[in-house]
Amino acid sequence: MNRQDLKHFLGGVARAIPRTTRWPLSTWGLTRNAGGELKRGGVALGGLLERYRSPLYVLDQARLDGNAARFLATPPGCARGAEPYYSYKTNPVPRVLQRLHLQGVGAEVASPYELWLALELGVPPSAIVFDAPAKTPDAVALAIDRGVGLINLNGRGEIALVAELARARHKRPRVGLRVVVPGGRAGQFGERIETGAALEAFREARARPELDVVGLHSHVNGEISTSAGLEALVTPMLAFTERLRRELGLELEVLDFGGNLACPTVARLPARALRLAVTFGREPDPRPPEAVLTIEDYLAQLISRVERHATARGVARPRIFLEPGRAMTSDTMMLLTRVLSVRGRDDAGATWAILDAGINVAEPVPHEYHHLLAVAPRSAETQRYRLTGPSCTMGDLLYPAWELPELAAGDALAIMDTGAYFVPLSTCFSFARPAIVSVHDGQVEELRRAETFEDLVARDQLAPPRVKEPRRSWPAARVDLRH
Ligand SMILES: Cc1ncc(COP(=O)(O)O)c(C=O)c1O
Repeated sequence: MNRQDLKHFLGGVARAIPRTTRWPLSTWGLTRNAGGELKRGGVALGGLLERYRSPLYVLDQARLDGNAARFLATPPGCARGAEPYYSYKTNPVPRVLQRLHLQGVGAEVASPYELWLALELGVPPSAIVFDAPAKTPDAVALAIDRGVGLINLNGRGEIALVAELARARHKRPRVGLRVVVPGGRAGQFGERIETGAALEAFREARARPELDVVGLHSHVNGEISTSAGLEALVTPMLAFTERLRRELGLELEVLDFGGNLACPTVARLPARALRLAVTFGREPDPRPPEAVLTIEDYLAQLISRVERHATARGVARPRIFLEPGRAMTSDTMMLLTRVLSVRGRDDAGATWAILDAGINVAEPVPHEYHHLLAVAPRSAETQRYRLTGPSCTMGDLLYPAWELPELAAGDALAIMDTGAYFVPLSTCFSFARPAIVSVHDGQVEELRRAETFEDLVARDQLAPPRVKEPRRSWPAARVDLRH
């Protein structure tokens, strides 16, 4: 058997392994109309592309409201719920943020721009948490002047900056300190608990009368998808509150557990799944849904754990702050895209198709599992495709292997769960960025218009005079290149 035949054989075996999970359309509240066309929020999706051009981000407003309500609910058996502050960086589309704020969700901001945006959107300063590993003096001054609810200091290096700006203003901002739990990754974030640096940082901050030290903050820089993962954060955080009480006499008002809760339908693609997809055309399996904590389970486990801890010590339960990003918005958006052209089959038996959406608007797709659906399938039978974006680079391979009904140029596809880290990581790499619309009860609303070519050069100083008429021919070279 030569190399080619072996590859064919192994590819057949890889593709014959049954898929472990298939997400039904109801996972996202999707339906198909009588003609087989996909609908969301009561709106047929094919028609949307006619109206707003492809590609197009589509927000499901009901699901956004639903996710906000789920985060705001008090779990059964718990005295009080948590306080969610949406992580602005995850999807900073003003209308998305406004919708969340309307439901009662606060703002977690991590840059001067995000702080400005939250204030500009009218978020009450007390409903803003200001994180960031790089706080500028201007932004800190603004946060202090406006009375932001909590400024989480990234580490010891920020104590003097915030204290001095507070003193100059005769204000006493409420601050927390970001810590790294044992075994956690620190990088540029937080102070480690196990080295003693976190305790020293609290001691130092408490010694500054200008600071009202009320909070303990941690965000694990990864994903929490299981009860064990949650325990690995909560247990050391609670143990550390004990040390703060014992050694510094500090009773905390706020425990801020950051973000990190996973979206059940999205997962980082393991290297093995990627290799199988690229080499043998085997479509990756999604993560089993039961493997991921729901928002309800996460809240119930976290809040009851903190409540039990407080009761056992006879103290009031601290306020629980959360900074959900992906768990709040991942599954609220989809990206519609059209097939631009279909090419031939390759050695692995997969047909290549080029889409009008690529890494420029779907940066996470090559390394995360994102379900893909045909908007109006031509048949029930499927074949294997490799789907690339439109950019002039080999790196624009979105789906190395996916089973889809036969495709032709013009067909529409829906990339699911694009509500976290898609819009803010989209670029104008060769193409202008798409519009964003929301769908709800059969209604469509434009949240952001599509970028125009003029937008792309709006900040540029174009050298005068602008060329009005295209040249018919280029002038003869002034330099003879043969010498
Ligand atoms: C401090 C902080 N909080 C919250 C989040 C949101 O994280 P996630 O999307 O994992 O929920 C992030 C994201 O990086 C973050 O840095």
